[in-house]
Amino acid sequence: MTLGGQGVVIALTILILAAYAQNSKAQTTFENGLKTMVYSSPKIIQHPGSVSNKFYYDIEFPKGHIAIKSFNAEVVDEAGNPVSLQETYLHHWVAVRYYERIGVEGKNHNGNHGFHKSDFLIAGNAGVCNNGLTQFFGLGSETRKTSTHIPDPYGIEVGNPLEVPSGYEEKWMLNIHAIDTRGAVDAMGCTECRCNLYNVTNDEYGRPLNPNYVGGLYCCYDKTQCKVKNGLQSVERNLYLKYTVKWVDWSDSIVPVKIFIFDVTDTWEKTGIHDCLIEYNVEQSTSGIATNDYTSTRRSSVSFPIAGDVVYGVAHQHSGGIGSALYKQDGRVICSSTPIYGKGNDVGDEAGYIVGMSTCYPRPGSVKIAKGETLTLVSNYSSEKSHTGVMGLFYILVVESSLESNYPVQVHEDVKAPIFLWGVAVFGLAICAAALVAYQRRKQSEDGYQSIAA
Ligand SMILES: *[C@@H]1O[C@H](CO)[C@@H](O)[C@H](O)[C@H]1NC(C)=O
Ligand SMILES: *[C@@H]1O[C@H](CO)[C@@H](O)[C@H](O)[C@H]1NC(C)=O
Repeated sequence: MTLGGQGVVIALTILILAAYAQNSKAQTTFENGLKTMVYSSPKIIQHPGSVSNKFYYDIEFPKGHIAIKSFNAEVVDEAGNPVSLQETYLHHWVAVRYYERIGVEGKNHNGNHGFHKSDFLIAGNAGVCNNGLTQFFGLGSETRKTSTHIPDPYGIEVGNPLEVPSGYEEKWMLNIHAIDTRGAVDAMGCTECRCNLYNVTNDEYGRPLNPNYVGGLYCCYDKTQCKVKNGLQSVERNLYLKYTVKWVDWSDSIVPVKIFIFDVTDTWEKTGIHDCLIEYNVEQSTSGIATNDYTSTRRSSVSFPIAGDVVYGVAHQHSGGIGSALYKQDGRVICSSTPIYGKGNDVGDEAGYIVGMSTCYPRPGSVKIAKGETLTLVSNYSSEKSHTGVMGLFYILVVESSLESNYPVQVHEDVKAPIFLWGVAVFGLAICAAALVAYQRRKQSEDGYQSIAA
């Protein structure tokens, strides 16, 4: 790893990464009650052009009734060194909280088959894509330079024994989608999951893809292979997602926040239901050359279910993204979040990749949303080139107003309600729970089994 004169930020990043690398075995540190634990995912085996999109159940996670303050992650190699996006593109990682019936452990964890629906309950986020984006946390290539810190006195409450249904225990699942682009004929094409590069005509379950489907998650599922240069020597290697969780023990001085994830493909406006399609394509502009405007704008509106104050916001976009914003009904900006593109070859600064997203930390009480207010999400991409499988997601943390005024009296009642809502997502940038979503949709109705495995 070299320091390429990119200045203090990079140097700091690398120092921090190096520090993490040394702590690669899970280890707790304390700082004013703030605890930090660094964990490692199960091994991800890669070779040039390979795709790994696996679901790891019952991952290591802090125990007890706690408030999460941040959740960061990055891909590292066997020695704990950070891996460049130029070699392994982290399409997404998401962390999903679930409740598993005590005693069924191990029964359904391996292989591609689901849990019996009643044995496995997703303890999702607060909305609004009730069908799909179930994560609490999640990010993609931008994970290294995107702040996930939640300021005091707020926190994401987990592990509350009163919320866990009797006979169940709370667990966490990680889905990691990593694409090895070493030696790829078209690395960006591989990251955009272009079907022609994957030589894929059927989906993961053998069903033929619509010939008009040119790119997206249905073409870069687990074990698919992106096209690499002829004669390339295949070097296998083991990678890991290193994830760092910071938290404090729960106390009545912590104000719980709810996680909401919006998707610019949400059909709510047209259909009245939240069908969040997660991915979309950006067509190459035919008029851009005349107008010198290469912006492709997509928007969606939804009705917000509670009244509250926004304390954090961030968008998720893929390469080609040029900014995204969430607006109040009166047109005021709730949060505007822009991609940070890498400029070089260093880890964390990979040219052409989104290596971070800017975040919003509104002054407490300054950004209020009313119950039933219509919010509009705008996602801009450059249409200078076409893009497949892009996303326009927005993640906000909200303190419910009634909680603020009456806290802590009502907190337990209020947070209990959503637990059994099936498919309501956990936190996280909704990044690509896409696979989850698609899978749930297909499986849910079929046989009484709810599978989130892929
Ligand atoms: C593409 O897939 C077809 C059908 O599965 C197979 O016959 C062919 O060999 C594949 N081509 C490459 C380059 O892998
Ligand atoms: C999106 O693009 C439109 C049209 O160029 C522009 O007016 C708007 O400010 C952009 N929004 C964001 C959030 O970048």
